[in-house]
Amino acid sequence: MRGRKILLLCAVCMALSGCQGAQKEEEKTSIRIGISLYRGDDTFINNIRSVLEERAKEYERENGIKVTLDIQDAKGSQNTQNNQVERFISLGCDVLCVNLVDRMDASVIIDKAMTAGVPVVFFNRQPVEEDMNRWDQLYYIGVDAKETAVLQGQMVVDLYTDRPEAVDINGDGVVGYVLLEGESSHQDSLIRTEWSIQTLKDGGVPIEKITGGIANWERSQASALMEQWLAAYKNDIELVVSNNDDMALGAIDALERAGAVEVNVVGIDGTTPGLEALENGKMLGTVSANKEVYASAILELAASCAMGQKPPQEYPLTDGAYYWAPQEILVYEDIEENQ
Ligand code: GAL
Repeated sequence: MRGRKILLLCAVCMALSGCQGAQKEEEKTSIRIGISLYRGDDTFINNIRSVLEERAKEYERENGIKVTLDIQDAKGSQNTQNNQVERFISLGCDVLCVNLVDRMDASVIIDKAMTAGVPVVFFNRQPVEEDMNRWDQLYYIGVDAKETAVLQGQMVVDLYTDRPEAVDINGDGVVGYVLLEGESSHQDSLIRTEWSIQTLKDGGVPIEKITGGIANWERSQASALMEQWLAAYKNDIELVVSNNDDMALGAIDALERAGAVEVNVVGIDGTTPGLEALENGKMLGTVSANKEVYASAILELAASCAMGQKPPQEYPLTDGAYYWAPQEILVYEDIEENQ
């Protein structure tokens, strides 16, 4: 549970007036939002960024408020991101949206934001609770990692229950799987791995782990790993469980090169290339975060902070600070049926 400590009297005043870190101004007609991405070349983050830009335009149209988004790429450097935040503050940003590079290292950003009185909406890379508890103008938007993992495991359980031969491809009564994991420091990687496999076990799929490795969310790293694994265990691998779509696509690249396209691959994210692979029947399924809702929540919450308004009711906050975006299973068969 989030036990927020209210350290300063002024923080109490802010809490009473809702989401309001920026100076409350009469009739604000424009807002400036500083957004820093951990890596601009991450496929999922790029998908979120596109929707954020669309939503900012819609917000302008609907509310008659000019919205300036200043979007920067931290290129995997926490130091660069800290400097970007400093610049955002000096440019007079009303609110910051930060996709942390190092989720354990939010303190510099929080210090700067608190000193300047500029609220922060973190997203996708969750700061540790201790950092989140430092101020009541810190928010986090993401997806629930356990929910994602259970949904991912469930789609394989469902297929196995329906048609075991589609999962136990070689019919030996055991489903040999390999596991592709995201960054070891990311809150999602461990939880996704643990609960996906647990769900397969609980659902009665007779799984056996062949091997696994960390590919840091990246397609090329996953492809290289999968190539090695296929060279060593080609006849045993029947299922690829991937912590995200990009790594699933890397595995598919290697499977295609090795002519092993019957192997089932499941991903997470529902990115544009992930959905394409699903439509082409190359990927069995993915757990898709609702990017419209995810990005809208970031934009609307940030805008309400910038305007000195209460957080939007459409995106209810858990413990006053966390919004969990909805997600759903998308499997190849659904797409076939809808065509
Ligand atoms: C995960 C997502 C990955 C990657 C990562 C970046 O939630 O599944 O594809 O985008 O966030 O932090």
